[in-house]
Amino acid sequence: MTVTIDKKLFIATFGCQMNDRDTEIMAQLLSRSYARTLELAEADAVIVNTCSIRAKAEQKAFSLLGVLRKYKKKKPEMIIAATGCVAQQDGRKMISRMNHIDLVIGPQNIYQLPLLFDKIRKTRKTTVATDISPSFSIPPFLPTMDCGLPHKRFVTIMQGCNNFCTYCIVPYVRGRELSRSQEDIVAEVRHLVSHGVKEITLLGQNVNSYGNDQEESQRTSFAELLCSVAEIRGVERLRFTTSNPKDLSDDLIRCFVDLDNLCSHFHLPVQSGSNSILRRMNRKYTIETYLDKVEKLKEVRPDIALTTDIIVGFPGETDEDFQATMDLLEKVRYHGSFSFIYSSRPPAKSCEFEDTISQEEKKERLAIYQAHQKEITMERNLEYVGQTMEIMVEGESRNAEGQWSGRISTHHIVNFTCAKPLVPGRMLMVHIDEACYNSLRGTLVDG
Ligand code: 5AD
Ligand code: SF4
Repeated sequence: MTVTIDKKLFIATFGCQMNDRDTEIMAQLLSRSYARTLELAEADAVIVNTCSIRAKAEQKAFSLLGVLRKYKKKKPEMIIAATGCVAQQDGRKMISRMNHIDLVIGPQNIYQLPLLFDKIRKTRKTTVATDISPSFSIPPFLPTMDCGLPHKRFVTIMQGCNNFCTYCIVPYVRGRELSRSQEDIVAEVRHLVSHGVKEITLLGQNVNSYGNDQEESQRTSFAELLCSVAEIRGVERLRFTTSNPKDLSDDLIRCFVDLDNLCSHFHLPVQSGSNSILRRMNRKYTIETYLDKVEKLKEVRPDIALTTDIIVGFPGETDEDFQATMDLLEKVRYHGSFSFIYSSRPPAKSCEFEDTISQEEKKERLAIYQAHQKEITMERNLEYVGQTMEIMVEGESRNAEGQWSGRISTHHIVNFTCAKPLVPGRMLMVHIDEACYNSLRGTLVDG
């Protein structure tokens, strides 16, 4: 019997890779009744997967939800659902603010989506599902291959965070750390590679503390997990994100010696170069211990590309504190960084800290940081020129036929020309000829 799927689902995703992965899961859960669409106008159901990490992200989600009001007016049977971190945080308040929303679902509750959609269709009663249960465990969930890039996939290894960095809302909206079992993760990776996936990225808010919530007798460390995934035949490239430097162990550093398929890239968010700010952020490491770990990583993998996250304008950040961040940038010479102006996110603790720096000053600091990072990124990219490197093919350019892109192990994009069709995920050698700020340009090496 063939089932015709006549309804259309539009999903807008804001925020991090955890949300990207949740979006894939939701699309798959609803795929028996809904096909994905990129056109809001033809959607029968809309999911807005929200992010609340900074005020701007939250505003963007609310502004899209606002726009949906007129679509719902035209098509009253349209289902509108809000998911993600804002949904978790605001719950029913979202519906009081915007009464055209039918469903508010927290990240732990997305697995009930088909049931909740059915209920809405039958009763048209607004529903809020945002319970965080201490006994929740992430269900084993094997992805189908019909969404996203088939040659690379994210695999969630844990949810939540226990760190309570004082600026961060994540522990309040994503709950406590919850690790999936090693067996479930390995089974998912095996399933993916058997369907042709070549690159796996292990995903969690703080992957370095993987396993800390498991019973001692069954506990697996992140380094052990990484080794067991790296061993699976067919995993050609392995990556992970994100890490808190305080939990970066020597065993994990050792993985960069032992595991050939572990990529030469480490995203290690430092947030600030000043010890006094780090203390008030509750980051639980000092710049000295951070630099020590960076040195060890560079020692065992000289070609490693380091990237980071920076917050400027944390409450009370002095000129000296900011200068310490600039000094750190100069010392580590990050290949790239994501940098943000501090955003007050109640109930995160730093909201109570006295903030004396003007928004103008914060913007200026951000511009100074970003300008210097840009120079360093360019210098770093130029270091690749003249080298012959292995790329994994990503795909053909949408705008120009015969123009392809791939990524080297460090995650840099390399653009190149190839008249023949290529399969994404294929490994090829390229000679790097040119460097730009955002990408490299190369020539395929024959053979
Ligand atoms: N203000 C600004 N940036 C923030 N981040 C997290 N919380 C805030 C906040 N309140 C940044 C951090 C983190 C990244 C994902 O977002 O740099 O590493
Ligand atoms: Fe937020 Fe800190 Fe947890 Fe990262 S480690 S999610 S910054 S609380």
